[in-house]
Amino acid sequence: MPSSTAATITPARRVRGRLRVPGDKSISHRYALLAALAEGSSTLTHFAPGADCRSTLACLRRLGVDVREGPAGNVTLLGRGFGHLSSPSAPLDAGNSGTTMRLLAGVLAGQPFSAKLIGDDSLSRRPMRRVIEPLERMGARIDSADGRPPLTVHGTTLHAIAHCPKVPSAQVKSAVLLAGLHADGTTSVTEPAATRDHTERALVAFEGAVRVDDLTVSVSGGQRLVGQSLSVPGDFSSAAFWLVAAAGRPGSHVEIEDVGLNPTRTALLDVLRRFGARVTVEGNASGDDSGGEPRGTVIVDGDRTGSLVIAPEEVPGLIDELPALAALAAKGGEVTVRGAEELRVKESDRIAVLVAGFRALGIDADEHHDGFTIRGTSSPRGGVAHAHGDHRMAMAFAVAALAAERPSTIEGADAVVISYPGFFETLDRLVASPPA
Ligand code: S3P
Repeated sequence: MPSSTAATITPARRVRGRLRVPGDKSISHRYALLAALAEGSSTLTHFAPGADCRSTLACLRRLGVDVREGPAGNVTLLGRGFGHLSSPSAPLDAGNSGTTMRLLAGVLAGQPFSAKLIGDDSLSRRPMRRVIEPLERMGARIDSADGRPPLTVHGTTLHAIAHCPKVPSAQVKSAVLLAGLHADGTTSVTEPAATRDHTERALVAFEGAVRVDDLTVSVSGGQRLVGQSLSVPGDFSSAAFWLVAAAGRPGSHVEIEDVGLNPTRTALLDVLRRFGARVTVEGNASGDDSGGEPRGTVIVDGDRTGSLVIAPEEVPGLIDELPALAALAAKGGEVTVRGAEELRVKESDRIAVLVAGFRALGIDADEHHDGFTIRGTSSPRGGVAHAHGDHRMAMAFAVAALAAERPSTIEGADAVVISYPGFFETLDRLVASPPA
């Protein structure tokens, strides 16, 4: 977990600017994993620079994959093909990254060796039964600390299953599909609600076959994946902080270029419109949707502040944007989120940490068992908010603190390195830009 460093946030009336955000974290994890399982070499550009995707690359190196990192987010991986990863001589450290641990568990379940997956304090508290149960049904054996990390995955020859997870989770879906690639027969996952479909799109990009039938996704074992050159779009969940900062402050204007526009990730755009912002989306005119991932430019103009209720069925499409969304109401308006109990088992208990941090900044916030309500005032007093080692909390507090009447402090601000190194430098630039 990142050590505790404080950031000071100076109030700002508006944010303005045009920028690109770091490469998408979810897509980068998947491209790296599939590149490792593919035949031949893959070159990934604009690969996510944060610590989470570095954890995935470090684990792949331990599994014998030749990974080379070049300048400007270029990563080259030499694929090993199915069944040719090496037995690691030391534990695989997923750091703070739930995606690394859960997706790798799926890959390891089908290897002819045992491997131990460890993580930091935050990851060691997170629930893993959701992947252990289906992977054990496929034939693997997984030791855990009562359903939490560390996990020792005893890989074996797997058989296909039909899995119906109780919680909508792209990580669970992906872990089972990755194991399914190593299994005899056709493995399917039927989700209770649609989640991000990057694994499905990435499989096609690596020349694999995947079938999608409404909420059911299936893959067959025994396929061959082929190495590719792919460029990763900007991370919509990172862009969300700037989109919210602009939407919550009339007179603001931000343009985010080359950001991922996968429809399973962009529900926030309609939510911002409902709040009162003007939102424009320009698809990439060149038609470049490398890897089957749509991308383009998003422009948000802050106009009015409003009031929003996020219903439970909207939550899966907004799961990583909910902390940012809370900051929307910092300077006026109201945001209520319900049906989001999953937030309690993310990098922190995001309901408790969020409400405590907003109150510390002088913003009225209520905790519900499955969500929160934030009621803004025109000028909250500011204060000291603690990120509790959670990158998205640090960024949500920073955006909320722009609304305050005096400078605020974000404790544990360096947690942003998990997904957005350079976040605070970009914030400085956006608040300093003069009105057009
Ligand atoms: C992710 C899926 C989501 C999300 C996480 C990344 C992924 O988690 O919160 O940040 O890359 O698959 P769940 O699938 O557990 O909801």
